[in-house]
Amino acid sequence: MIGRDLLGMENLDRADIERILETAERMKEVGEREVKKVPTLRGRTIVNLFFEASTRTRASFEIAGKRLSADVINFSPSTSSLKKSESILDTARTLDAMDPDLVVVRHAVAGVPQRIAEVLQAPVINAGDGAHEHPTQALLDLFTVRQEKGRIDGLTVAIIGDILHSRVARSNIYGFRKMGAEVRVVGPPTLIPAAVETLGVKAFTSLREGLEGADVVMALRVQNERLDGSFLPSIREYANTFGLDRSKLHFAKDDAIVMHPGPVNRGVELSQDLVDHRPSVILDQVRNGVAIRMAVLYLITGRPRVAAASHVVSGATE
Ligand code: CP
Repeated sequence: MIGRDLLGMENLDRADIERILETAERMKEVGEREVKKVPTLRGRTIVNLFFEASTRTRASFEIAGKRLSADVINFSPSTSSLKKSESILDTARTLDAMDPDLVVVRHAVAGVPQRIAEVLQAPVINAGDGAHEHPTQALLDLFTVRQEKGRIDGLTVAIIGDILHSRVARSNIYGFRKMGAEVRVVGPPTLIPAAVETLGVKAFTSLREGLEGADVVMALRVQNERLDGSFLPSIREYANTFGLDRSKLHFAKDDAIVMHPGPVNRGVELSQDLVDHRPSVILDQVRNGVAIRMAVLYLITGRPRVAAASHVVSGATE
């Protein structure tokens, strides 16, 4: 059972993931109606607590909450009492005292959503913490692959780029492995964690070898804000070696799809043409993100609240 909080993919099991994906199928249908709103979470309050920049994740949590008729509050760090040196935990406790039904947290430091979850009455969803996890991104990626391929089991998924700093890679490795896919990571040796094989993946430093036979090719953003210049000789060299264009995509299966969590550095991770055209499914990922977030909001807040004393972390049962 999906637990009180959703802090990562690591502690979800296959049945949890199946349940979220199946719930998201129903939520997607709501988004296809003329009136995209149902009363499921009427009277519930959701706080978006984003300490780090976001376009996709924050907007889709807001739209997801509103489609379910919840009241959604977007907390803005730049205009908050954080500017008067109030701590993150005191900020979270203050908002919690207003009795929200759920808090969505993004922070640039790994572990912050977990720490906040330990002290709040309200359940917490991790919307991305440093290089740790981004569970709803992995869930929407799984949903998109299943939509495109009809299955996940038995597929080969190649994740290209900055594996070392990527919460998207980590969450997707957990998610795709649990759902029965073979996962490969591909990139320069400096951007592949030393013990990555312990996560059950194969590591490649050759793009050609890493893409051979791949059904899904997922390019990751080159995270300039997390690279201090010592990981890559230059962005141009990265783009030449690992940037995907149509000629390099031929290394993968003929019907391979191309994914990217966004935001994309056009001409670095992907050619302009691949960003905008099939087999890229980037905007489908974004669209599916709303259905996935509706599903997790419903599964966590649509049920009776549990006592704070029984508080548990991600994936554990109530
Ligand atoms: N993929 C993703 O998390 O994008 P944002 O940073 O725009 O939310």
